[in-house]
Amino acid sequence: MISERIINIINEQINREFYSGYLYLSISAYFREIGLFGFAHRTKEQAAEEMEHGMKLFGFIIDRNGKVELKQIATPQFEMGSPVEIYQKIYEHEKMITEAIMDVARFAEEECDRTTLSFIDWYINEQIEEERSALDIIKRLKAFGDDRASLFLMDNELNQYSRN
Ligand code: FEO
Repeated sequence: MISERIINIINEQINREFYSGYLYLSISAYFREIGLFGFAHRTKEQAAEEMEHGMKLFGFIIDRNGKVELKQIATPQFEMGSPVEIYQKIYEHEKMITEAIMDVARFAEEECDRTTLSFIDWYINEQIEEERSALDIIKRLKAFGDDRASLFLMDNELNQYSRN
């Protein structure tokens, strides 16, 4: 039996994941606006991934016969800047998401809820990837981003490796 406390925190996490989707979409629109189409593609893909994360949590609550509560999704409050500044903020956001996922795991541990623990493991591993991929882009932007030709090449590369 899954507890109300676990259901509540997972419902909050659904909201955070959809908010993350909104956040990445707003960043994608900005990159598109300033002509960085590869970065726009990459962040649009990330937005779709965040929606999938939210949907997996939604499915878990349904599977456990819990009550889904869809909360209001806030408008992203994100001051755009240079690509490296944007990615630094993305990295901070992903670290906050990691902490939130760890809270879900901590609650599940406290309640010896093995089902939720097993489920949330996927998110813990996914967050390693999310943080690393933001950091990788920050490192490369710091190394080459001041040079316009390098930024152009990096933008093209992100376009090439995007799935859509
Ligand atoms: Fe689903 Fe970027 O955390």
